[in-house]
Amino acid sequence: MLLPKLSLKARLTLLAVFSFVFLLIVGRLYRVTDYPLSIITGDSKSDVPKPQPNEESTIIYQDPTILKSYDDPNAVPHPIDHLIRDADTKWADLRAKQVYNLTQVAEQYRQRRGRHPPPGFDKWYEFAKSKKAVFIEDLFDQLYDDVSPYWGLDPKEMRRQASGFDPRIVVRDHKLSSVGRTGVNWLEVWMDMMKEFVKFLPDMDIPLNGMDESRIIIPWEKLTEYREQDFARRKPIDPSNTTDQYMQLPAFDLEALPESWGPAWEGPGRPFWDIMRDACPPESPGRNSNIPHLDFANPPREFFNYRNFSKTGYVEDFEKSKDPCWRAELQGMHGSFIEPVSLSTSHELFPLFGGSKLTVNNEILIPPAMYYFDNPMYSGGFKNKGGAWSKKKDTIFWRGIASGGRAREDTWTGYQRQRFVSMLNGTTISKTNGSSSHGINFRQPDYQYYNVWAGIDGTLPEFLDEHCDLGFLDLKCFPPEDGFHCSYQDPYFSIVDPMPMKEQYAYKYLPDIDGNSFSGRYRAFLLSTSLPIKATVYKEWHDSRLIPWAHFVPLDSLYMDIYGILQYFIGYKGHNGHDRQAEKIAMNGKRWAEEVLRLEDMEIYVFRLLLEYGRLMDDNRDTLAYVDDL
Ligand SMILES: *[C@@H]1O[C@H](CO)[C@@H](O)[C@H](O)[C@H]1NC(C)=O
Ligand SMILES: *[C@@H]1O[C@H](CO)[C@@H](O)[C@H](O)[C@H]1NC(C)=O
Ligand SMILES: *[C@@H]1O[C@H](CO)[C@@H](O)[C@H](O)[C@H]1NC(C)=O
Ligand SMILES: *[C@@H]1O[C@H](CO)[C@@H](O)[C@H](O)[C@H]1NC(C)=O
Ligand SMILES: *[C@@H]1O[C@H](CO)[C@@H](O)[C@H](O)[C@H]1NC(C)=O
Repeated sequence: MLLPKLSLKARLTLLAVFSFVFLLIVGRLYRVTDYPLSIITGDSKSDVPKPQPNEESTIIYQDPTILKSYDDPNAVPHPIDHLIRDADTKWADLRAKQVYNLTQVAEQYRQRRGRHPPPGFDKWYEFAKSKKAVFIEDLFDQLYDDVSPYWGLDPKEMRRQASGFDPRIVVRDHKLSSVGRTGVNWLEVWMDMMKEFVKFLPDMDIPLNGMDESRIIIPWEKLTEYREQDFARRKPIDPSNTTDQYMQLPAFDLEALPESWGPAWEGPGRPFWDIMRDACPPESPGRNSNIPHLDFANPPREFFNYRNFSKTGYVEDFEKSKDPCWRAELQGMHGSFIEPVSLSTSHELFPLFGGSKLTVNNEILIPPAMYYFDNPMYSGGFKNKGGAWSKKKDTIFWRGIASGGRAREDTWTGYQRQRFVSMLNGTTISKTNGSSSHGINFRQPDYQYYNVWAGIDGTLPEFLDEHCDLGFLDLKCFPPEDGFHCSYQDPYFSIVDPMPMKEQYAYKYLPDIDGNSFSGRYRAFLLSTSLPIKATVYKEWHDSRLIPWAHFVPLDSLYMDIYGILQYFIGYKGHNGHDRQAEKIAMNGKRWAEEVLRLEDMEIYVFRLLLEYGRLMDDNRDTLAYVDDL
């Protein structure tokens, strides 16, 4: 059909040309992937399992120059060199755990989870296999962290709660229905995500969080108690004592719905930190401190906590760096803690699924509807990934609205998006007094500590003018004012024109900063040929799949590290940039996202999650198991 009029000879010529191009591409891939793993990973531990012979290396970009610099005693390595090298090792170790058949997958499950897999595991495996999943049990760690506390609850009570919650998805007799509605069309999108495997699911009710903000916060002592019950129940049951039939639930009848149920919600009117502090460990600063407002001229001691989770100031422990319990200063430096747009929190644990949460929240994460649904505002259009790295501009680019919470006249200086845009505005920086000085809504880093070369020689504003293009589309103040403006923020920001996401891929560096909750563009950024620079205090379903510095560049939510990061990659005057490193992370992140963050991977994740959930809600949860492989 494609070539209707061509002679046989012409077709053969075309075939030859295609084969040649194909071989060229394969040859190139082969060459760049051909570094022995031990060299790539440097000092990798010897107890790491050897990769399977048929495993295809996923490192497509390796920069031999950086490897050389480790061996060169005269080279002064930048802290980011180490972070990237360690992350690559971590990633290689993770991939080395990949397994390829059901027996191995079930065995890995038992080793890591301390239980038999739930009934239906074989169906899950077949489904995942048919969708070309990468089988590494670690990729599901987030799921098990989320469901762990629920082992402390009574299944019967959980079923009562779930069957009365609005909104919810209902599974009966392998069919989907729903009750209530969420904002936008999330409910429909989530049902869409489940439709291919609902035929393998037991009966269940799936309560959903229809709000942007996360909802459940239980006291730390209670959480600890619940998690202990999970550990106590992990026993190797003899296969002869297991069962494989889930309970059946009463039929779904819209005319006779179960009694509606909801927890007591604690709402607006009380500062969020007061609602949340009991979720922190007793010894943590977040439990006891009170820093609702940051004085950037004289920051409190806690302001410097970011150094605790970092290598010389650059994020090393991304998970811990997000945790408000250990980052008490975030109380006055992130809208989610200052004054969220809406607030409705339960201190009681009950079944609830949502797209993102703070580390102090307890709901069960599922992939956000925005990631599954091709809305160009968040995805840039599923097909647009951007062009070649070498064609992109050496610029950090961002457009967005000043969301994040209710930014009032006396609190807006604590809001994260404003802080970020101010710190990368050359004019604003030129009005400060350099290293460790401050502006109205930010503090400047110590230039020496962070290797801010342009700062040290007094040209940081010029560097920023040259390499930054950021701006707000709407200043969103509270109470709202006319149009996109905001009288008390106008002196500091201009309103700029929007740019479609696919055009933003013309820039190398794409920062991603929390709005009212997590940022819905992140997955698209990962899949693009540009490099995401990610700052967040939120957790998402994919957190155990992504390795900071291997797949994206982590940024601390105080942004003290941003200049150092930009200069490391872009370089400055006498200091070479690490453009190849930036390209490597961008391409490895893309490649990995194409293997483990696909739409299919979201389905596979939710399928696994709902089998676990079905078991958890079942009166026989301690004996329900898949053991056919034993
Ligand atoms: C699974 O893979 C392992 C390792 O390659 C192999 O020894 C085993 O025979 C395979 N099992 C099945 C059921 O294919
Ligand atoms: C099976 O369960 C029963 C009752 O709990 C117990 O007495 C028995 O020892 C178990 N059998 C095995 C093989 O573990
Ligand atoms: C961070 O480290 C400093 C000392 O370096 C210590 O005083 C402080 O308590 C630490 N903060 C946290 C939150 O661990
Ligand atoms: C910078 O320092 C000068 C002299 O100490 C002072 O007058 C000025 O207010 C400072 N500017 C800022 C923005 O802190
Ligand atoms: C940069 O800051 C100056 C004030 O320091 C402000 O006038 C300007 O609008 C800002 N630019 C943007 C894009 O917000």
